[in-house]
Amino acid sequence: MIRFLRTTSPKSLRGTALLRLDFNTEDDWRMKAVLTTIKFLLKTSGKIVIISHRGRPENVKIKNGVPSSYEKSLSLKKDAADLSRLLGIKVVFIPHFRFGEIKKIFDAAPRRSIFLLENLRFLKGEERNSPSFARSLAGLADFYVNDAFAVSHRANASIAAITKFIPSYAGLELEKEMTFLGHAMRKSKHPLVFVIGGAKAADKLGVIRYFKNKADSFLLGGGPANTMFGIRGFDIKKSIADTDPEDLKNLKIISRYPNIALPEDYVWHDNMILDIGPKTAKEFGVKIAAAKTIIWSGPLGMTDQKKYRRGSMRVASAIVKNRKAFSVAGGGETVLFLKKYGFDEKFSFISTGGGAMLDFLAGEKLPGIEALKR
Ligand code: 3PG
Ligand code: MG
Repeated sequence: MIRFLRTTSPKSLRGTALLRLDFNTEDDWRMKAVLTTIKFLLKTSGKIVIISHRGRPENVKIKNGVPSSYEKSLSLKKDAADLSRLLGIKVVFIPHFRFGEIKKIFDAAPRRSIFLLENLRFLKGEERNSPSFARSLAGLADFYVNDAFAVSHRANASIAAITKFIPSYAGLELEKEMTFLGHAMRKSKHPLVFVIGGAKAADKLGVIRYFKNKADSFLLGGGPANTMFGIRGFDIKKSIADTDPEDLKNLKIISRYPNIALPEDYVWHDNMILDIGPKTAKEFGVKIAAAKTIIWSGPLGMTDQKKYRRGSMRVASAIVKNRKAFSVAGGGETVLFLKKYGFDEKFSFISTGGGAMLDFLAGEKLPGIEALKR
């Protein structure tokens, strides 16, 4: 049984909330997706301590609780300013990890105070899922909320171990992810069409295998298309050599699935497919127009360049034109692309997850969601 924040009585939510979010994106879209949760908690609990991570910091030194020798772009200081701006409420950034001192600051603060701790991955305990680190975090608050779906596929201390120490809830955004992605998995109407691109074919293996017999078609572009052509003997730069042998074996099996659709024409440059061609975009569009469920992960070309963006633009237009279909998209690059051209609002759901969405859709158990079950 998972306790959901939305349906929890406000009486159980008094005191200080420890809110795990995921700010690990280039712009503030993941932040915007959780503003409702922050506002909800401001009403019920009064004080909020936000915890998050950014990047994969290495060799950070901690002296007296103060991190040093880290890449400045990995600090969350700027996120405190961004969040203050979005909420219209000051968010106090805490640049150190002296938990005793932090607790005193929280206790002395008035209601409606919001704090943001520094990047948790500056401490080794976070990625090691350390119980003692989780206990220190838990000591800062009265209850915990996970609204960081995007990192819930990681067994990290602030995602998994933490729930052993204080009452824990699934946040509003996490609940939405579970509902919409769960719907796409269990109740998807046919035709069910996947659009699969992005950097690496291997990242998409789990989803394709899980939906092998359920999907009507997998429309492939980007890295996955390159790898599939590489498997078929095309001389494609990097596609095969970079792939783990076990993954390659599985990709070869997948390349023979009858519902795999490879581009018929493409934009070829420097021994690589950099976009799907117009004929393919049209054919993919026909499949999309007839679909009842559409799931998109990964752009079909190098969308940062205009000449390689056309395929993804055409496919996005086809998806938003199909008003009957249940449509879901996720993954950092895909979402940024959809937002940039205003397609996102017309999707049924935009997932905040990249790897987390793919693991979820592959039927895997996510450590962050499992940890909330009791
Ligand atoms: C993400 O952006 O995918 C999440 O924040 C997880 O980050 P990670 O892949 O570095 O664990
Ligand atoms: Mg990632």
